[in-house]
Amino acid sequence: MKPSSSRKLSIKTCIFASVLFIIRLRLAHGESDVINTLFANYDKALRPYYEKGTPTFVNCTLLIESFGNIEEANMEYRVYAYFHLAWKDPRLSGKLNRTINLKGDQITNVWVPDPYCYNARESNMMSPDEETHSNLKIKPDGEIYYSRGLTLLASCSMDLKYFPLDSQMCFLKFGSYGHTVEDIIFKWAPGETDIGIGREELAQFVYTGSSLESGVADISTGNYSTITAKFSFKRRIGYYLIQVYFPDVFVVVLSWIVFWMEKDDIGNRMALGITTILTMMFLLGSLNGNLPKVSYPKALDWYLLFSFSFVFLSLIESTVVFLFAGKANKNEKIKCKKHTIPLTTRIASSLKCFVRSKSADVNNASDDYKGVSENDLEMGFRPSKADKALVDDAEAEVPHNRSTKIKRMEKKASNIDRVSRILFPLVFLVFNLFYWTFFNGHVVQQQ
Ligand SMILES: *[C@@H]1O[C@H](CO)[C@@H](O)[C@H](O)[C@H]1NC(C)=O
Ligand SMILES: *[C@@H]1O[C@H](CO)[C@@H](O)[C@H](O)[C@H]1NC(C)=O
Ligand SMILES: *[C@@H]1O[C@H](CO)[C@@H](O)[C@H](O)[C@H]1NC(C)=O
Repeated sequence: MKPSSSRKLSIKTCIFASVLFIIRLRLAHGESDVINTLFANYDKALRPYYEKGTPTFVNCTLLIESFGNIEEANMEYRVYAYFHLAWKDPRLSGKLNRTINLKGDQITNVWVPDPYCYNARESNMMSPDEETHSNLKIKPDGEIYYSRGLTLLASCSMDLKYFPLDSQMCFLKFGSYGHTVEDIIFKWAPGETDIGIGREELAQFVYTGSSLESGVADISTGNYSTITAKFSFKRRIGYYLIQVYFPDVFVVVLSWIVFWMEKDDIGNRMALGITTILTMMFLLGSLNGNLPKVSYPKALDWYLLFSFSFVFLSLIESTVVFLFAGKANKNEKIKCKKHTIPLTTRIASSLKCFVRSKSADVNNASDDYKGVSENDLEMGFRPSKADKALVDDAEAEVPHNRSTKIKRMEKKASNIDRVSRILFPLVFLVFNLFYWTFFNGHVVQQQ
């Protein structure tokens, strides 16, 4: 490009830019003229129809952009929305040829209603218009459309009895902060039957619908017009199936392995039982971490507690089986002791007593027993023939007793195991049938 042509071009752009600037200046001047004439003799402190004494009707529309996470722990949820208000201000009618759009601080020239959200914990409703997305349209006939971006953190009381197979209903309630029903009446815009939702996707919930209500809040300072939007959500079960129900079932099934283990292998049986119990306790504890500490058991708690008692009972079963099986083994040993050892020791000790008393008598009179210690006497003692026969008899009795009593005990132990193998899975299955039909039925009912 030649230097002369580039200079020409830059001069052209300069002129173009300055013309644009002048046009813009004139436009701005013109608009502010319109605004000045529009708001001449306009008292923004007074609501429309103040002089007439009739209330100002405000038609409201709520458009939900998206719902933030619904948090059970604090029982609250976030809403990103647009709030549209429409009312008529007769003082501004007939002053415009075309609709005028105001934004930011220009909006402060106009009287606007003072809505607030009853159940909001955080909200940007009272922040100045410059700090939020806001827009105000004035039509030539005096109708005013006011729109604001809304971010709310609203409370939502939840009944968690059926958690995580529950549905929840959350609401947003709006009303004027300072104007009673005599001054402002909020209504849902005519033809509005439910709330428009931009994005219905939520991580944990499925949005199932909304309903609109309007009413009057009777507060000590007066009666206030209110409008309420209610949203229904159904919880997605998928997360809890994967995180809780399936692992839980596996742990319970795992705890049944003990019924197939050796009856007197108490070490391994206990190890498995206690491991499954600890896993269960971990499942119980880990879940309720981000849930409010409600005083009633939730549906999930019922399931976990029932599973826990299952695992616990299988541990108890192992103990009972061991007691039977182990008692049988011990009985065998105890019987042998009773019939062999005590007999000789009993005789030896009775002889010792006899010798002691005798030697006390004899010590002074004669020295016959001198030099012979008590131990020698004891060692020297051998059971007589009659005694030996007695011992033999007792020993002969042992195998007979063992074959009946011990076998009976062992049979009892294996019977307990055999019954448990069928009873535990059966009861667990029945419990599951009842559980899922009951809570699924409840979900259908609530919808
Ligand atoms: C508000 O709704 C009423 C009907 O309930 C309607 O007559 C009126 O024109 C609406 N006002 C505005 C400003 O849209
Ligand atoms: C409206 O239009 C009429 C004629 O077209 C004009 O005389 C008047 O000044 C306009 N008013 C405003 C507020 O622009
Ligand atoms: C509110 O309205 C009720 C009737 O709907 C009335 O009895 C009560 O006095 C009103 N409260 C006030 C403060 O005006």
